[in-house]
Amino acid sequence: MGSTAIRPGIFTVGVIDWDRRMFDSLIPLPDGTSYNSYLVKGSQKTALIDTVDPAVEGVLLRHLQELGIEKLDYIIAHHGEQDHSGSIPAVLQQFPDAKVVTNPKCKGMLIDLLRVPETQFIEVQDGETLSLGDRTLKFLYTPFVHWPETMVTYLAEEKILFSCDFFGSHLATTDLYVTDEGRSHESAKRYYAEIMMPFHTNIEKNLQKLQGYDIEIIAPSHGPMHNRPEFILKLYHSWVFDEPRNIAVIAYTSMHGSTKMMVRHLNEALRQKGIEVKQFDLADSDIGKLAASLVDAATIVIGTPTVLAGPHPNTVLAAYLTNALRPKLKNAAIIGSYLWGTRAVDILKGLMPNLNVQILDPVMVRGLPRDEDYANLDKLAEAIAEKHKALPMPSSWHIA
Ligand code: FEO
Repeated sequence: MGSTAIRPGIFTVGVIDWDRRMFDSLIPLPDGTSYNSYLVKGSQKTALIDTVDPAVEGVLLRHLQELGIEKLDYIIAHHGEQDHSGSIPAVLQQFPDAKVVTNPKCKGMLIDLLRVPETQFIEVQDGETLSLGDRTLKFLYTPFVHWPETMVTYLAEEKILFSCDFFGSHLATTDLYVTDEGRSHESAKRYYAEIMMPFHTNIEKNLQKLQGYDIEIIAPSHGPMHNRPEFILKLYHSWVFDEPRNIAVIAYTSMHGSTKMMVRHLNEALRQKGIEVKQFDLADSDIGKLAASLVDAATIVIGTPTVLAGPHPNTVLAAYLTNALRPKLKNAAIIGSYLWGTRAVDILKGLMPNLNVQILDPVMVRGLPRDEDYANLDKLAEAIAEKHKALPMPSSWHIA
């Protein structure tokens, strides 16, 4: 039996994908993921909340069959992205009388992405409710967690929030609820960085919108559920609202060693000034870890050698992603090396227009760094330390 009862008549029917290693052909999944789908039975109607990635649609259908589900009244579609909506056509094939319940924006997406017939939908507005008999689903629009149409569902009688991507994590585990808070903190932070951080102003509004709801369980669409919601709510609050911390991220690549020598020197100089440093060699770094490190860092330093007069492509990707993720960074600097000429600094600066940062003086070195170049790196470390002076120290994962 692949389903588990959360409460009488409420089941997890989704799929754990232990082996998936990449999402959107972009995001590494070192710990796999899950596509959580929930079945809610009321005294009169039965609803399926989200489906699963179409690659594993057969597993979802088997879970429903094992539960003896012969009639499905509603499929609640929180979000158009296919890891949750992609099995709707297969579920409809099995349960042709089921109605897809969603908002108008998501309806349009599901028609475009999956060719779900228009007649199959029931549209719901923000705050609207749907009775299952003795249970009531309340739909709350929560735009940009993750796409503009995304919404969540509050089951008032059970105080369960079905939160879709909001509060999720890419983590394959047999734990129904978060048990290992350290591990969950790491995967939830990484997930927040990759999926939510670009929309952090919307996340802020959506967190405020949920404040009036009494929530005992948060049931997201990826990763384990939260039966101590304050754990994830406090983390989100900290990631969204807190000032960046006394952390510098160095993302670099090196071809013949000059840039690496500079990075080593700068790393040590920063640490001597009491700054926590997170360093990533972009030749083989996990970009999810880099993204997570940007959630609470105050400074990014990009280290690049010069290739064909510009920055190394690895650093172009890092600058582009950093710009797209819109972290709360306050400062940025570029260091690196060249031999006969370079436009690396201007090109990298031009790739980060979204960042509300002060660009510190770059340190670009012809060939191997000399004493004066190391002195300039020391000056850069001093400038960063000065900017970090009033910032809070990094916190451990545990938030009291
Ligand atoms: Fe898990 Fe935005 O889909």
